[in-house]
Amino acid sequence: MITDNSSLQLEKIVAEAEDFLPLLGTDYVELYVGNAKQAAYYYMSAWGFQPLAYAGLETGVKDRVSYVLEQDKIRLVLTSPLTPGGEINEHINKHGDGVKVIALWVDDATKSWHETTKRGAVSAMAPKALEDANGKVVLSAIHTYGETLHYFVERGAYNGPFLPGYKTWKPYYKSSPVGLKYIDHMVGNVGWNEMNKWCEFYAKVMGFAQLVSFDDKDISTDYTALMSKVMSNGNGRIKFPINEPAVGRKKSQIEEYIDFYQGAGVQHIAVATDNIIETVAALKERGVEFLYVPETYYDDVLDRVGQIDEDLAPLKQHGILIDRDDEGYLLQLFTKPVLDRPTMFFEIIQRKGAKSFGKGNFKALFEAIEREQELRGTL
Ligand code: FE2
Repeated sequence: MITDNSSLQLEKIVAEAEDFLPLLGTDYVELYVGNAKQAAYYYMSAWGFQPLAYAGLETGVKDRVSYVLEQDKIRLVLTSPLTPGGEINEHINKHGDGVKVIALWVDDATKSWHETTKRGAVSAMAPKALEDANGKVVLSAIHTYGETLHYFVERGAYNGPFLPGYKTWKPYYKSSPVGLKYIDHMVGNVGWNEMNKWCEFYAKVMGFAQLVSFDDKDISTDYTALMSKVMSNGNGRIKFPINEPAVGRKKSQIEEYIDFYQGAGVQHIAVATDNIIETVAALKERGVEFLYVPETYYDDVLDRVGQIDEDLAPLKQHGILIDRDDEGYLLQLFTKPVLDRPTMFFEIIQRKGAKSFGKGNFKALFEAIEREQELRGTL
C-alpha cells in the first residue's frame, strides 16, 4: 500500500521525468559481436527479424560492419570490427558478444545530453548531427553501467532506412516474423552493492522512478539469491530492472554473469508478443532453446494465478510461466543464453493487464537456471 506521501513523491518524480527527459521509446539495441554477418543470419532465421539496413566497406565505413534488423518496433544492430585493435575488438575480447548500446528515441538529443550530463551523467559523445540525402539525425550518448552506453536518437527530420551512412539492406534470404512486437524491458546486472548506485543514477540523472523492489527474501532458492529494483521513465515505455547478486550458499546466476561478462552489462532483453504460444512454438521450431520448467509447476499454478484465457496444455507443453498481480496476469518464458558465454538471454512476455515482472515465477525460474549452471560447473 502506497502512502499519500510516497505517491505524491512518485508523481513528482514522474512529472519531473516528463519535464527534463521525455523518452519516446527504445530506438535500437546494438550488440558488438564477433561475426555480425552470421549473427544477422541467426536473428533472421531463428528469431524472425527482417533485414533493414547495412553499413560497411560498401558504404564507405572502413573499420566496422553493422547489420540492422527489425521486427515490428524492435531494431537490433549487430556490429563487428573489420580491423584488429580498437574499441570494438577490446569490448568483444573482454565481454564476448554483448549489448553495447541501448539507444533511446527522443525529440531533442541535444537537450537530452545537456540535461543528463548536467545531472552527473558521463558523456560518451557530445551531440552530433549526421546528414545524408534522407535528412538529418542528431545523436548524443552517455555512459551507464559497465561499458554500456545510452544513445539519444533524434530522428524527426529523417526518413532513411536507419541512420545516415546506412543503406537499405535487401538480402535474398527471407524469414517470417515470429510475432515479436516491442521491447518490454531490459535488465542490467551490476556488481556487489552496486544496485542502489545505478538505481540512483536512473533516478537522478534520467528522472526515472522506482516501480518495484525485490530483496533476497523474495528471490532466493536453496542455493542462490539476488536483489532487484525496477526503474521506469515517466511514461512507462522504458523499464530497466537492475539486479545485483546477494549472498547464497552457491554462486548466483548474477555472479556467473559478472564473471563471464567481466563486469556489469545487459542480462536480458524482454520482448513482447500478443500470442506467446505461437511465438514460442515458432522460436522452438527454429532452434531457439528455452529454460526447462518441471511439469510439477503446472500442478497448482491455476490455484495461484486464478482463471486465465489460455488452455493450460499448450502452456505446459512449452514451459510457459504464468504470474498475476493486482491488474491482471502475464505469461513469460526465458531462453537459455544466446551467446557462447553464459551471459545474455531473452525473455518472451505477453502481458494481459499485469504490469509486474513475474515475481511469482522467480523461484521456479532460478531453480531452472541453477540446473543449467550445474551442467556448466558454475554453480
Ligand atoms: Fe524480465
